[in-house]
Amino acid sequence: MTAIDKTKKTSFTQSMPLHSILVDTTLPFDILVKEDGKFNILKTEGTLYTLEIQNDLVCKGIEELYTPVMNKENYINYVNKYIKKILLNKQIDDVEKCLITYHHSKSVMEELLENPDSKVALSRVRVSTSAIIDTLLVDQKALKSFIEIGGLNYSICSHSVDVSIYATALAVQLGLPRAELFRVGYAGMLHDIGKVRVDSKILNKKEELTPEEFKEIQKHPVYSYQLLKSHNEMNETILNGILYHHEKFNGSGYPHGIKGDRIPLIAQILSIADIFSAITTHKSYNNGKSTFESLKELKAMKKELNPKLIGEFIKVMTKACKVH
Ligand SMILES: [Fe+2]
Ligand SMILES: [Fe+2]
Repeated sequence: MTAIDKTKKTSFTQSMPLHSILVDTTLPFDILVKEDGKFNILKTEGTLYTLEIQNDLVCKGIEELYTPVMNKENYINYVNKYIKKILLNKQIDDVEKCLITYHHSKSVMEELLENPDSKVALSRVRVSTSAIIDTLLVDQKALKSFIEIGGLNYSICSHSVDVSIYATALAVQLGLPRAELFRVGYAGMLHDIGKVRVDSKILNKKEELTPEEFKEIQKHPVYSYQLLKSHNEMNETILNGILYHHEKFNGSGYPHGIKGDRIPLIAQILSIADIFSAITTHKSYNNGKSTFESLKELKAMKKELNPKLIGEFIKVMTKACKVH
């Protein structure tokens, strides 16, 4: 194996779960392994990834591979192309499938946030949304795995994936048809995209926000709506779900202060998933709460959220956590 020349200014931040690389495919990117804190080139772009290579990595206990950041897009494109095949592959463990789905969804969100007008990035978000739905529908334990993977450290991308997963789980619990599940999951991924238009100094501010700064943050659902509307292909149900995801059942929310069932169902679902994600996620200024404590907090929000939906959400999350 060749060690990487560290004098070259390359960063190796794109990690890849081992089983996101399928046997018998030609690699469109370099594969690096981390050994003794150093990145070494294992295989270069254009190599056929064989079972022998995979077995060797498994034997060494390697679970994570890397690719140079300049290869990141090729890797994302590769997983986007093969994600269905990965999810159908019986050789890959279900927990690993959840990890790959989560990892990929986060990567495509990062890509979209870097380039919110990109139709290609948006199309990859659609593929990862479908992967989340397939995983949740096929594997009884998937929600539990996703809860364990998510919520570790806050970023807009991981929060978006978490909201998409929790909202989809609630939509499945409500018995919504597949087309609706997709709208809910897709809206979950995209609900906070408008934050790219809010000054990062305000978004990352650790001290208390001034009233003006707070008002600016509260514009993000409108920014999300406008940004996605400009794509011209976005369904109105999805757009309205996103626009109203901070409305409250008692009319105390924003941007319009609408209440009760005037708030579209998708927005009501997103709102519960959004608050649950906010309570459970670890942030620099506070530790995320446990699933149980977070559900207790949600239960106390009967005025702000639809009580029937809170009840269904508690049911589905409790059921997930009991699965062994
Ligand atoms: Fe939001
Ligand atoms: Fe959010």
